[in-house]
Amino acid sequence: MSARRVILEEGKRLSESLLWTLQRRFFEVRKLRAWSEGVVPHYVSSHPFLARAYGRLAVGYLRDERETIDPHEPIYCIELGAGSGRLGFHFLRQTLAALRLPALRDLRLKYVMTDFAPGQVDELAGQAAFRPWIEEGLLDFARFDAEAPAALHLLHANTRLAPGTLANPALVVANYVFDSIPQDVFRVEDGTLCEALVTLSTDREAPDLGDPDLLPTIRLDASFAPVAGPDVYGEPALDGLLEDYRDRLAAAHLPFPCAALRCLDFFRRLTGDRLLLLSADKGFVHEESLLDHGLPGFAIHGSLSMQVNYHALALAVRRSGGTALHAERRLASLCICALAPGRSGDGLAETRHAFAEAVEAQGPDDFFSIKKGMEQAYATLTADQALAYLRFSGGDANIFLGLFPRLMALAPGMDDETRRELCAVARRVWEMFLPIGEERDVAFHLGLLLACVEQIPAALDLFTESLRLYGPDAATLYNVALCHHRLHRPEASREAVEQALALEPGHPGARRLHLVLQGEPATTATGGPPP
Ligand SMILES: C[S@@+](CC[C@H](N)C(=O)[O-])C[C@H]1O[C@@H](n2cnc3c(N)ncnc32)[C@H](O)[C@@H]1O
Repeated sequence: MSARRVILEEGKRLSESLLWTLQRRFFEVRKLRAWSEGVVPHYVSSHPFLARAYGRLAVGYLRDERETIDPHEPIYCIELGAGSGRLGFHFLRQTLAALRLPALRDLRLKYVMTDFAPGQVDELAGQAAFRPWIEEGLLDFARFDAEAPAALHLLHANTRLAPGTLANPALVVANYVFDSIPQDVFRVEDGTLCEALVTLSTDREAPDLGDPDLLPTIRLDASFAPVAGPDVYGEPALDGLLEDYRDRLAAAHLPFPCAALRCLDFFRRLTGDRLLLLSADKGFVHEESLLDHGLPGFAIHGSLSMQVNYHALALAVRRSGGTALHAERRLASLCICALAPGRSGDGLAETRHAFAEAVEAQGPDDFFSIKKGMEQAYATLTADQALAYLRFSGGDANIFLGLFPRLMALAPGMDDETRRELCAVARRVWEMFLPIGEERDVAFHLGLLLACVEQIPAALDLFTESLRLYGPDAATLYNVALCHHRLHRPEASREAVEQALALEPGHPGARRLHLVLQGEPATTATGGPPP
């Protein structure tokens, strides 16, 4: 017997469905916890390798636009739906060095992280790691709602970005955003256009529409009805695109990114068409992908996501004489596009070159596939191979945590040179890491590894970072005490070990070390030598 379902709405155009209100509710309530608790996946769209590719594209675009740039005015790089903040963090870390090269040195880049929920923007802006960049004027924050695009107000600079106010070309970044904002679905069949009308139901008996956990209980059923006339949206740009699809496709289910298209249109107006939009998502860009594969699916991982039809975004850009760059080959995990609506391809030689190198030839999508393969081989890597992989990844903390057991196993056998190299790689991993409060403590793991190769001052710094981020913890304090002990600082060591014992009186290592520090033979307390 199936449970009774409560109908929440019936026969709604998908983009106007309650679904998106529930989606907003989820992000508004969860804020940064959506990512720190691992509910919404973010690694694939935010890792350092991907940020490096975006950095190359940004530098290529700035070189293409060099002659038109006023060096006294900022070049904005505006990220939509910045989420965890990690993409922007990695982007700035990777790109700042390039921006100090002679050809670009006098340019004033300002990265602006945005999200639609004010609470989310406040949490992002409050991250301690961002403070130096905020003070340098390199980073700012703003609220931006892609469903209702409007002027942005920069939190720190107290500046309003509205059409007509930007002196320079701009970059816009949108990763895993267009899959999260309203779309429609149409069916084309022999010249007839039908639109999906959705019915939402839940098995919750008394559903609370303000509950961020309602979304995963939703069932979506769709039926199709012919559209009434050519003015589906009453917006010539969108209706023109649909018309185009109706004429060119014999039979297809067509996800239609109406909110993303309006958003693109807003940024065209904001920048006076001097814009490079970089976007990555689950989606497709080739027309064959539209040919009838049935109703597009929705994925629910706390929030909801739907494949992005980049073909429509690229078509919109090309229809107005602009350039849309995308990989010719199939991308396995992530579709990446660079859209320059106001520029014909001729003027974008550097951007094209960067795209060919950093996305098509050896891009983030390949990197992600290789990572999946490497994960199976971690236990067989040599120290040199593991360190090479970490360097290649751009100092990726996720990869470091995966390699941690292997590196710990290899550490005792490393020669001095390898140990020094390990120390440099560990520094890079820490530099590239934005803490957002996840359970796994990167600083602690780096500290353990460095202590294992006798890099005691560096290990102590990392244990101290761990305490700063996670608060007092017996294991961390014990390691701090051990580091001080090895550095011949008995007072500091005693203080830390006593704090560890106050938190966990039975901590065996701390008890042994405490006895050693008191000058007593450790064997009397625990039966083992000091560590
Ligand atoms: C799946 S998350 C992606 C976050 C991040 N870009 C990443 O790649 O991990 C979707 C992001 O879009 C934001 N978002 C949802 N609706 C939005 C809207 N209407 N306008 C702007 N951002 C929105 C969410 O708050 C969230 O940060």
